[in-house]
Amino acid sequence: MIELKNGVFGLHGEGFSCLLRINKYGLLELLHFGEALSTEDGEAFLCRPGIGWGSSVLMDENDAGSCADAMPLAWSGSGRGDFRESPLEFGGISTDFRCSHSKIINGPVLMKSGIPQAKGDCDTLEMVFTEANAELRLYFTVFRDAIVRRAVLGNTGKENIVLKKFMSSMLDIHGDFEMSTFDGGWIAEMRKHTAPVSENRIVSESTTGASSNRHNPGFIISEPDAAEDSGRVYGFNLIYSGNHYASAQKSLQGFVRIMQGISPSEFSKELAPGEIFETPEAVMTFSDKGFSGTSEKMHRFVTENIIPEHWRNRPRPILYNDWEGCMFDFNEAKLLNLAKEAKKLGCELFVLDDGWFGKRDSDKAGLGDYSINKRKLPNGISGLAKKINAMGMEFGLWFEPESVNEDSDLYRAHPDWILRDEFPPLKGRNQFLLDLTKPEVRDYIVENVSAVLDSAKITYVKWDMNRHSTALGAKAHDYILGLYDILRRIFEPRPEILLESCSSGGNRFDLGMLCFGPQIWCSDDTDPIERLTIQGNLSYLYPQSAFGAHVSAAPHAQTLRNTPLCTRGNVSFFGCLGYELDLRHLPGIEKKQIAEQIAFYKNYREVFQFGKFRRLKNGWQVSDGKTTLAAVFRKLVHAAPGYETLRIKDLDKTAIYNMKTYEQKLRIGQFGSLVKHVAPVDLDPNGFVLRIADRHITLPDGKQEIRASGAAFSAGIMLLPLFRGTGYDQNQRTLTDFGSELYIIEEEGK
Ligand code: GLA
Repeated sequence: MIELKNGVFGLHGEGFSCLLRINKYGLLELLHFGEALSTEDGEAFLCRPGIGWGSSVLMDENDAGSCADAMPLAWSGSGRGDFRESPLEFGGISTDFRCSHSKIINGPVLMKSGIPQAKGDCDTLEMVFTEANAELRLYFTVFRDAIVRRAVLGNTGKENIVLKKFMSSMLDIHGDFEMSTFDGGWIAEMRKHTAPVSENRIVSESTTGASSNRHNPGFIISEPDAAEDSGRVYGFNLIYSGNHYASAQKSLQGFVRIMQGISPSEFSKELAPGEIFETPEAVMTFSDKGFSGTSEKMHRFVTENIIPEHWRNRPRPILYNDWEGCMFDFNEAKLLNLAKEAKKLGCELFVLDDGWFGKRDSDKAGLGDYSINKRKLPNGISGLAKKINAMGMEFGLWFEPESVNEDSDLYRAHPDWILRDEFPPLKGRNQFLLDLTKPEVRDYIVENVSAVLDSAKITYVKWDMNRHSTALGAKAHDYILGLYDILRRIFEPRPEILLESCSSGGNRFDLGMLCFGPQIWCSDDTDPIERLTIQGNLSYLYPQSAFGAHVSAAPHAQTLRNTPLCTRGNVSFFGCLGYELDLRHLPGIEKKQIAEQIAFYKNYREVFQFGKFRRLKNGWQVSDGKTTLAAVFRKLVHAAPGYETLRIKDLDKTAIYNMKTYEQKLRIGQFGSLVKHVAPVDLDPNGFVLRIADRHITLPDGKQEIRASGAAFSAGIMLLPLFRGTGYDQNQRTLTDFGSELYIIEEEGK
């Protein structure tokens, strides 16, 4: 809801308000962004400059309050007395926009450039600012869970304007804060770093052409005493998939200036008279219920206002993907064999990953071509898809349409289609990017991908992109506009196709991509212990329904760590479950366990995918109000471990709940030479008998049942003890390093 009262604009969402006013100098002041307040409260936040600050540049020499540098603003110019970071730079020319008028609009204001936008129930405040040769429009769109804002610059003069920097959002909030960013690289996404915001500017920026695995565009600003479930926490994100920029810096007056937008690094855009430039939408939200409060808002915002409507709360299939199991080495018979196994275990969708087209037998050739590799697939994609469909499974396919190998028919025919920013051009993973700013390149991709999609019953697409772009500035932005055009043309007419985007894993995990497809492959790192960091930190800003999460073979290809199958399952359950391993050589015992995992997940799929997600001290939980599923994860254990409790959140304190462990098994081989303590006969720990036994015999682990009130579960119930070096007993938790347990907590009634 947006209202204007006594000169104060009140922008009100659920649990938060933003109060703005235009001051007498025509500048946009931020009176408050935080707790829900009434618009009339705006008055209480006015800054009283008294007799002013020393050494300040004034807009009116008779008014100590006219120092722009000391004002809490929601937009500023440069070269007019505000020496803090400016959101807009023309390159050597000062900017001095003053508000001329504003209006409140019911609903969103649509963009012209094709950048995806948040959608759904909303109101928009449009504010128009002018100066001699340009007009600036600021849009604040208020949704239930977040405010989304952007800026548009129009050249109203007679000369060209050169834009050097143009942010989507600028905000001055008062107080002491910390900034948490999510950084990393390939197979190492989303490592959380938290630093106090001081007078030194903190910058989180990507310059690799994509939103990047180096620095996710989402970040958090929190008060130092904020905790998981208490305290003031702001969440920010950008609906954009290209180079981005975010910064935070404190001023002498105690205001923290927060900036969000397209990266200004090497950015330069020339606007002819009459032309406009639109920034992507920046998202901001607030909760006084700690990090979990802000995450909850961000999750609901993504589910209701970002992902395509068709997929909102629509259950996602359990998929089998052949990549980690086969890589490029497959043929139709092998795939059908795998599909048969996957179907037996309960998978619903078979995904053929890289390697089905052109001369694609390694990552050195074939990208750019769409001819089917007939040596591997003599009956084509349609022949394979039909056979998979006949088994009762859906069929999905991998594409990497933005890239081209030098060894491809496409490159030989159109060497001029690559993005040529380096001379000579450089390759990444043996490939170039195609220049998506060229209409003929976009048409080629749209026509070829569409033709494949229409040639068979394909209900899922994995859209990959595996090369950083060295295109600079405005060209990098135009590339992303080209990508959005392609995605819109392919997928808008085919809304029922489940699009999972991917970029070497999580190199483009952003809200822009989520506007086109509801899930993203989080990371090429499928080691569940690593995934605790990746998925756990993604959960600060994105709902678990956006996570592609697969069980792979252990020892893991990325870390060589050996993890128990139950932990691989327990981590992947908190997302869109898939399996990505060679099923042909799995021992029967593991196949049985996988079949059980899939059956269990199907039972609780909606809770896992769309339930309310909470981070716990020692794990994660999801809940639909009646059923709560909570997992406890371990990394390394120490000898003689103490007792451990499990605290469940959000339960009705007066209701009675029954908790039981999701049954899990110990492999006998885990005991090595200690097997003599658990087996009735004396066995050679390295011998044939034990190897066979390990493939067939399991022991129950950590079986626990508790009936108690919601109040007791909230206080923290006592879990079974961990293995203490004193022997095996099913009433303890014997799975130690990298072990985990999953608990089902059901409401019984009052
Ligand atoms: C990228 C993706 C992987 C897989 C390979 C195929 O690395 O992230 O999941 O699709 O490409 O080449």
